[in-house]
Amino acid sequence: MRMKGPGNMFRSLVLAAVVGLSGGMTGAAQAKVVGLEAELQDWSFAGPFGTYDTNQLQRGFQIFQQSCSSCHSANLLSFRNLSEEGGPSFSEDQVKALAAEYTIFDPELEDGERPATPADRWPAPFPTELDARAANSGALPPDFSVLAKARGISQKFPFWAFNYFTAYQEGGADYIYNLLVNYGEAPEDAEIPDGQAWNNYLARGLAMAPPLDDGFITYDGEGVPETLEQYAADVTAFMMWMADPHLVSRKEMGFRVLTFLFLLAGLMYLVKRKIWADVKH
Ligand code: HEC
Repeated sequence: MRMKGPGNMFRSLVLAAVVGLSGGMTGAAQAKVVGLEAELQDWSFAGPFGTYDTNQLQRGFQIFQQSCSSCHSANLLSFRNLSEEGGPSFSEDQVKALAAEYTIFDPELEDGERPATPADRWPAPFPTELDARAANSGALPPDFSVLAKARGISQKFPFWAFNYFTAYQEGGADYIYNLLVNYGEAPEDAEIPDGQAWNNYLARGLAMAPPLDDGFITYDGEGVPETLEQYAADVTAFMMWMADPHLVSRKEMGFRVLTFLFLLAGLMYLVKRKIWADVKH
């Protein structure tokens, strides 16, 4: 076997990098899954300078409250989070009033229950996991707290490697969006257990009936389409915020740190020149 010379090796490495990179640019848009290909969305929180859209988070909360939260818990969400900066940013009074609509059950209390306050966690829809399963023909609706970070689209090798360069980290959001908008008729040869709904994106049955449909929820504000796609995008954005509420400040800090390091590197270079100026090469 003939060994590759170092020159050859270098050339193939560069070639691989160039081919890979150009593939990577389109690669993110071509992420593959077992079922349908994920259609990547244009999220406001994508990219190094992305931020959450407050209005979208408020709409997403409305959908979570009126639909999803009747089955899904959100154990790490406190009412007060809903008025924190960078989130849906409801006013503190709004959150107080909202919390008061819910009841906290606690055997240590005199009456065993009390109205919730902003300091309380979001109450689970079912007292125990067993109850949750019993209400969902044996399946457990997963907790929403970090679900958007616990899911992702599958990308073929080597496309995921380019996420480091394109800063793509919205796989969880794209997964949830595609799942929500791609319910449909099962193909004839598909075998799905009783009580499951066929999902074209996952290419399998899901123990969750389509939770959203066109016109299903009336938005308070005007001018926002009341369509399945809009609902799906809004609730997904809300779930992403819930899973990663400090995303924006983390990105800001990252940018500041990089700027600082860049300036420091320049400074260090000048210092080095000064120190070695009198030394003969
Ligand atoms: C009637 C109850 C019910 C409602 C309402 C509901 N879900 Fe679900 N959901 C479930 C169940 C049950 C599962 C578990 C499905 C399974 O394991 O097959 C699930 C699973 C999920 C999953 C995870 C799928 C996976 O990758 O495993 C997501 C995401 C999800 N639901 C999102 C939502 C959203 C968003 C809403 C509100 C728009 C919602 N659900 C409303 C019952 C519900």
